[in-house]
Amino acid sequence: MNILFVFTNTLFKLGSWFPLNPNSVSAMVSPSTALFLSLLLYVSFFAFFSQSESKSHLPKVSLELYYESLCPDSVDFIVNHLTKIFSTDLIPIVDLKFVPWGNAKLQPNHTFICQHGPNECFLNTVEACAIDIWPELGKHFQFIYCVEDLVNQQRANDWKSCYETLHLDPEPIKQCYNSKHGKQLELRYAAETDALKPPHKYVPWVVVDGEPLFEDYENFLSYICKAYYKGTDTPKSCSKVSYITEVKAENEHSDCDKGREEPTWRKVSSILSSWLHKMNLGDPI
Ligand SMILES: *[C@@H]1O[C@H](CO)[C@@H](O)[C@H](O)[C@H]1NC(C)=O
Repeated sequence: MNILFVFTNTLFKLGSWFPLNPNSVSAMVSPSTALFLSLLLYVSFFAFFSQSESKSHLPKVSLELYYESLCPDSVDFIVNHLTKIFSTDLIPIVDLKFVPWGNAKLQPNHTFICQHGPNECFLNTVEACAIDIWPELGKHFQFIYCVEDLVNQQRANDWKSCYETLHLDPEPIKQCYNSKHGKQLELRYAAETDALKPPHKYVPWVVVDGEPLFEDYENFLSYICKAYYKGTDTPKSCSKVSYITEVKAENEHSDCDKGREEPTWRKVSSILSSWLHKMNLGDPI
């Protein structure tokens, strides 16, 4: 803000010294050329400052969440654990990425089936669209959180109320879903999930700086601090999380294991899809 003020002020002073107002400038430079030159100056000025600013920062820690919208463990992680990060000072040092695909399976004809039925594919795609439409973390996170919070309350069919709650326009999501762009986004997330090394075993699958946290994903904050630790310049919240010795997440991913036996998986998914059928999620509007 200060810089902007100084810059504008300088430009103003320059203008009075070197006639930049349209009346007197016509003899020397056309108004459009003057405008163009000021714009050029403005753009290069900001390019210079944003570059020197990014140089002074350490690389961010990447935090990737591979999940599926209706898996109870994914829902619990997003609603009850991941949100904690927003009450810390870690957001500026973290590059948080959502990958809404999970254990969905790609068919040879490029259609896909989801572990918890068609409604899961639907909400995964809606969330993929949200990330695409609102690339800013704060904005797509609040939408994903709102939807997942409703799923958590067994109110997934109310998901459209999130548009109103968050004052968001439903049109872009509707368009993304109906134009098949949403499906393309999902296919990209399928490829990214498939490329995981080591491959994921269940969801939520949390990866910090390329390292999966396995069962210990609820301690993700400590892993972020460990990955970021550079001697100095440690975020304040890291001194709080460093001594957290939470009991490791229990080995309970019964609904959302990747390598589930097919018959059991079918059974679970048919029970769920008959339940989900009643929810009738409808179109993305
Ligand atoms: C895609 O393939 C699956 C099984 O391989 C089949 O059930 C489904 O109907 C096919 N979908 C389309 C649109 O062809």
